[in-house]
Amino acid sequence: MKDQVATVVSTHFIAKETAEMELELAEGIDPLPGQFAHIAVRGAFLRRPISIAGYDTEGRRLRLIVQRVGRGTQTLTEMQPGETIQILAPLGNPFPLEMPDEALSEGSAWLVGGGIGVAPLLYLAELLAKRRERSRGLASFVGFRDESLAFGVNELERYGAIELTIGGFVTDPLLKALERDRPSVIYACGPTALLRRLQEICRERGLRAFASLEEHMGCGIGACLVCSCKLRTQSDYEYKRVCYDGPVFDLSEVLFE
Ligand code: FES
Repeated sequence: MKDQVATVVSTHFIAKETAEMELELAEGIDPLPGQFAHIAVRGAFLRRPISIAGYDTEGRRLRLIVQRVGRGTQTLTEMQPGETIQILAPLGNPFPLEMPDEALSEGSAWLVGGGIGVAPLLYLAELLAKRRERSRGLASFVGFRDESLAFGVNELERYGAIELTIGGFVTDPLLKALERDRPSVIYACGPTALLRRLQEICRERGLRAFASLEEHMGCGIGACLVCSCKLRTQSDYEYKRVCYDGPVFDLSEVLFE
């Protein structure tokens, strides 16, 4: 993790309220899908956590997809090429790409995402396709509230089959697909309602799933406890920090309120 200056290379809108930013970092990093960048926005007291949607090692180019939800993210989306920002990255624990069990590492992976939660899955799909040397066995199920908000669909299509849901439940096509097939592992990111439903589906079918949780953050480095979530233990539960212990957790362990 490095706190450093990044220069904006480009910013453009890829969907309604959703901009893609490319930043050139002063120093190279080694981010993995699921990790995030904590960005100091001019005029805002708190940094903004933005998940990493791609990284080009050679050019030290970091790709972020930012949803405009308030003043801070609006400022980010309005930044011009050449402007600089302070960025702390990579933070948090990534999606596990290698599994202890070879069958899981080599088997099929399904990605499930909703809304801005699709952003880290773009980077994950890219890396999984590269690592497996072929994209067979990689399928995506993504959903958006309405068509104007959709992004990343063509990109995911390059790596495997994709089911796009507009305005409905992304778990519906997933359930249909599960009648015919069964992935070795599911990776997910999206709103709580989606993850909760996915947890039920995985529990009923004994499927392994990892999910990146979306939570409000303060410090981003495990010190303020703003981002606490509950995780199941053998006898009870414990609190974990999404920014530091996550944002990716074994979905079966997450206790949703
Ligand atoms: Fe401060 Fe997670 S944001 S502990």
